[in-house]
Amino acid sequence: MTLRVDVLSLFPDALRAYADTSVLGRARERGVWELFVHDFREAASGAHRSVDDTPYGGGAGMVLAPEPIARTIEETPGLARPVIALTPSGEPFTHATATRLARLEGFTLVCGRYEGFDQRVLEAVVDEEVSLGDFVLAGGELAALCVIEAVVRLVPGGLGNDESSVEESFGDGLLEYPHYTKPAVWRGREVPEVLRSGNHAAIERWRRTQALALTWRRRPDLIERRGGLNPLERRWLTELGLLESPDENG
Ligand code: ADE
Repeated sequence: MTLRVDVLSLFPDALRAYADTSVLGRARERGVWELFVHDFREAASGAHRSVDDTPYGGGAGMVLAPEPIARTIEETPGLARPVIALTPSGEPFTHATATRLARLEGFTLVCGRYEGFDQRVLEAVVDEEVSLGDFVLAGGELAALCVIEAVVRLVPGGLGNDESSVEESFGDGLLEYPHYTKPAVWRGREVPEVLRSGNHAAIERWRRTQALALTWRRRPDLIERRGGLNPLERRWLTELGLLESPDENG
């Protein structure tokens, strides 16, 4: 089954250029996903095909008018559902969102520009609103490409090799353990001994403790989300000197 992705954007060339590149381009050639880009300026009326207007209530910037976006969504045959708008006010996009989207037959992404969307088009034709993070982009195109790339690499065949997306950051709710390649010593820095030991159980344990320790230091919110630490994990963090004692709160 081919994942169908529709994107509404005022910059279709920018989207297509990246979608033709690297992992996304190869996955499209293999038929893992297909892309339909719709320039909603083509649905705008008037001599200038204007897609934005000044905000009611005043203030800086322009707001995307509802009709060109709604018409594009309603008049595109076979447009994929759900329809997802990219906006900094949306629900946070996470690995869980990507996993959910990767299981669908397709989805549509709507890229904003200017100050954002008219609220009524979000209510009338959009199913979900998604944000990439607590920052503001000039438009939704880069966010849409991030969503597409995060999803396509989880679709079977998306990476060309199904192994690669299994053991990685967020899959198990933790950040990923550190990686090393040759040389064994680089500018005086050594690859940890255990990784060269050939002891697979020890390597596995080292990787799990490193992933846990990194997450504990950098993203305690992720530890919280998976329900805190279990007794074994407390012991590991204590051994690494990151917890005073296994009974410590955290
Ligand atoms: N459009 C502008 N900023 C955005 C963000 N942070 N996430 C998703 N879409 C956006």
